[in-house]
Amino acid sequence: MKKSLEKLLNKPLPADPFLPQKVVITDVEELAPEHKKFTFSFLEPSSCERWNHIPGQFVMLTVPKAGEIPISICSSPTRKGVIELTVRKVGRKTEVLHSLGPGSVVALRGPYGNGFPIGIMENHNVLIIAGGLGIAPLRSLIWYILDRRHLFKEVYLLYGTRNYSSVLYKDELSRLKERKDIKCLYILDRLETPEDEEWSQGREGLITDLIPEVSLEPKETYVAVCGPPIAYKFIGKELLKNGYPESQIFVSLERKMECGIGKCGHCQIGYKFACVDGPIFPLWDTKNLPEMI
Ligand SMILES: Cc1cc2nc3c(=O)[nH]c(=O)nc-3n(C[C@H](O)[C@H](O)[C@H](O)COP(=O)(O)OP(=O)(O)OC[C@H]3O[C@@H](n4cnc5c(N)ncnc54)[C@H](O)[C@@H]3O)c2cc1C
Ligand code: FES
Repeated sequence: MKKSLEKLLNKPLPADPFLPQKVVITDVEELAPEHKKFTFSFLEPSSCERWNHIPGQFVMLTVPKAGEIPISICSSPTRKGVIELTVRKVGRKTEVLHSLGPGSVVALRGPYGNGFPIGIMENHNVLIIAGGLGIAPLRSLIWYILDRRHLFKEVYLLYGTRNYSSVLYKDELSRLKERKDIKCLYILDRLETPEDEEWSQGREGLITDLIPEVSLEPKETYVAVCGPPIAYKFIGKELLKNGYPESQIFVSLERKMECGIGKCGHCQIGYKFACVDGPIFPLWDTKNLPEMI
């Protein structure tokens, strides 16, 4: 039935997001202490053809003998054939995942969630604000924009983390600093080593300190934020103070998830489910829905 429909339409049908797909780990990169980037390839070539996602979406990854975990996709949909996930080791399931190496077969289902509103961001400036592990889903957005650079106006990346040793994607982000089509400003909580100084070009403090350094027309700009939820209140306040319209600021929120598809209620926030209505929410929601942040 599926095959004949595909023949009729002359293109593969999208992947069934409810069915776990088998994937093999092809690469594991240690990015920082407790943080690894896993690269996966589909075992079934047709699953690979059908796969498509929006930056900001996530997958439910089955970790053998441990369970399922929601993880943001950190690769861009413009780079076909692989899926990359960056995972911090925090508990049992992520610990088991960290023990796996290339050749291990696992399964994932998705993509889930809404993702960033990339369609409406087109023809505008984009300001990307990442704190700590928040750079992972935003990496997908960064490469999506850079691979379709002509569709966007000016692009800024602000990235704040503890120190140089906790910086993720060090080489990649260093190379971004050299590019002319994206302006990168990096900041560290504390400058203690020459590497810290060099990385942040002497910038010490909080991510909010970078916002006044951005020279974009706020009304022409969409803002994508991902980081520790505690920072959202302060980032939101600083953005509003600098003239960025509330309706153009989007933040990524994490909630404990079980099903990922709006059925179990684990991720409910007021009348919204983070797994289907999010994980990307307009700043307005974070201020007006109870217990959002
Ligand atoms: C949409 C979404 C995207 C995510 N993307 C990533 C990602 O890209 N990389 C990554 O490393 N992690 C990500 N996470 C978090 C990840 O799912 C959890 O860290 C993981 O499920 C922990 O499993 P565990 O068994 O190792 O630890 P557990 O024993 O389940 O938890 C360890 C500790 O982490 C806390 N915790 C677990 N899950 C969450 C959560 N969702 N929100 C807040 N606190 C939590 C627990 O309360 C506990 O204190 C994401 C979560 C969501 C909901
Ligand atoms: S995770 Fe089940 S409803 Fe959202």
